[in-house]
Amino acid sequence: MTGTDALGVGRTRATTMREGFAILGVAIRREPKVFAVATIGSLLFGALTVADAWVLGWATDHVVLPAFRDGRVDTSLLIAVVALFVGVALLRAAGIVARRVGAGIMQARMWSHDRRDLTRQYLSLPMEWHQRRPTGQLLSNANSDVEAAWGPIAPLPMALGTVAMMVIALIQMLLADWVLALIGILVFPMVIATNIIFQRVVSPLMTRAQALRAELSEIAHESFDGAMVVKTLGREDEETRRFAEKAHQLRDTVVRAGRARAAFDPALAALPELAVLLVLVVGVSRVLAGEIEPGAVVTVAYLLTIVSFPIRAIGWLLGEFPRSVVGYERIRSVLEESTRVDYGSETLARSGPGAALSLDQVGFGYSPETGLLDDVSFDIAPGSTIALVGATASGKSTLTALVGRLRDPDRGRITIDGTDVRHLRHGALAAATAMVSQSAFLFEDTVRGNVTLGGDFTDEQVWEALRIAQADGFVAALAHGLDTELGERGTSLSGGQRQRISLARALVRRPRLLVLDDATSAVDPEVEARILAALRSEGAAATLLVVAYRKATIGLADEVLFLDDGRIVDRGTHADLLTRNPAYAELVNAYETEEPA
Ligand SMILES: Nc1ncnc2c1ncn2[C@@H]1O[C@H](COP(=O)(O)OP(=O)(O)O)[C@@H](O)[C@H]1O
Ligand SMILES: [Mg+2]
Repeated sequence: MTGTDALGVGRTRATTMREGFAILGVAIRREPKVFAVATIGSLLFGALTVADAWVLGWATDHVVLPAFRDGRVDTSLLIAVVALFVGVALLRAAGIVARRVGAGIMQARMWSHDRRDLTRQYLSLPMEWHQRRPTGQLLSNANSDVEAAWGPIAPLPMALGTVAMMVIALIQMLLADWVLALIGILVFPMVIATNIIFQRVVSPLMTRAQALRAELSEIAHESFDGAMVVKTLGREDEETRRFAEKAHQLRDTVVRAGRARAAFDPALAALPELAVLLVLVVGVSRVLAGEIEPGAVVTVAYLLTIVSFPIRAIGWLLGEFPRSVVGYERIRSVLEESTRVDYGSETLARSGPGAALSLDQVGFGYSPETGLLDDVSFDIAPGSTIALVGATASGKSTLTALVGRLRDPDRGRITIDGTDVRHLRHGALAAATAMVSQSAFLFEDTVRGNVTLGGDFTDEQVWEALRIAQADGFVAALAHGLDTELGERGTSLSGGQRQRISLARALVRRPRLLVLDDATSAVDPEVEARILAALRSEGAAATLLVVAYRKATIGLADEVLFLDDGRIVDRGTHADLLTRNPAYAELVNAYETEEPA
């Protein structure tokens, strides 16, 4: 028989069982001490629960029955019995505490261990890996997959204690009376089987409900994110319907799980009780026949009731396995991903204001079949300002991504101050360069927090960066200046204001090479020109590579690189290119006429 898990991969029950136990093995190897404490607590509890039955049987024969027979109670015996009950109860309580706290600690440690590993891995995986995966998946790896993987840890100590309890109970029943013990031998497997069947019916429903909950919140998230589109285009009804459909599916699934529970719960409760009835019927006749003492009947009946309930823990444990195996596998697939960014050990030789950037026969394509950049070579002298101009989709953003090492070229090399960027040690490139892209991302933080990103900068430095980015004016006008909270993704600012804050974030770090990929597209043309002028005169003489469209901006650059068909087809001043290169002239003039007045 095969079950279909959330990944849609068929997996036999036997495999799930084996893998489930293997995952438990991983947890036990990682946390042997906590596991030992929890298990010992559970065994103590199990053994004492059974001992309780023995105390009860013993008290029946030595205290209760003599009391009925003789009409008086032996006080010292009564005290002994009370002390026994109290002692056993206290030790059981200690066992429960050790088991629960131990299981909780063990599970929480497994979660935190894997979440930290995942986060570290996310940070070290290259951009290209991240672009292949939706954000929601990364979050669900770190949240629900981690929780699912270690779900069986919670019932594990109790299940182990229950197994021990069952073995001891059966031995004790056999010692009490083998005929009555037969009933126990029959009932325990039936309770276990019913539990496992219940888990098999309910588990897939719970997994489905979990997935539906995720889908539901995804729809809600998307609707809220796209609130503008939804409202302005009058799509409220469609969005409501989309949401309602999922909500109804979720409701039906949860109701189905509830129905299954309603059917199984009475059966699970009735089984041991029917068995107790049987024990009484059979036991009484054997007592009357003088074959056993009444205490044996009490012991067996009590054992049946108390052991049948914790047997559920075995069902919980095994029922968690399918989810656990799938979650664990998903975490593994991320952790075992080996496409890491390789760093070298070199540092940049120079530390003067402007860095020299040089591309040497750089080739790159997003897939092996379709090349994008081919044989791109150019040098940029320290402190100069170069505009990169090319048609849409000609590869300008890709080129800036290569310079910032968000990706590595397929061929050729990129050097900064003569050092191949791939040979730089981790952090060296980021310390010397800054990239600002068109989509300005702001954090839910203050203006200051968004500029410094937790770095150690004085307010003067922050204001200086804001001033060059032409953002000082509107920031000063905000209610709390630098301390103004910007809200999620900076929604309280206009697009152009967001871009200027993210430019200031790059500037405050005093980069030696600043790469602007259309970073001021939402800013007014004359403000954009002022920014570039300020960068040139006050930007600490950083080397500037600017992807730009507007003539006024391009005109401020020392030189223009014209990118066409994956190659740098021309290089020169804006004025020279305008006169000698008709394709260039056509492109920049087209930009100008497209721009709204
Ligand atoms: N992550 C990516 N995966 C695959 N193709 C991409 C990716 N990013 C960009 N491209 C493609 O590469 C080409 C160049 O994109 P881009 O460098 O953004 O151009 P530009 O910035 O000049 O407009 C486009 O055809 C685009 O569709
Ligand atoms: Mg682009």
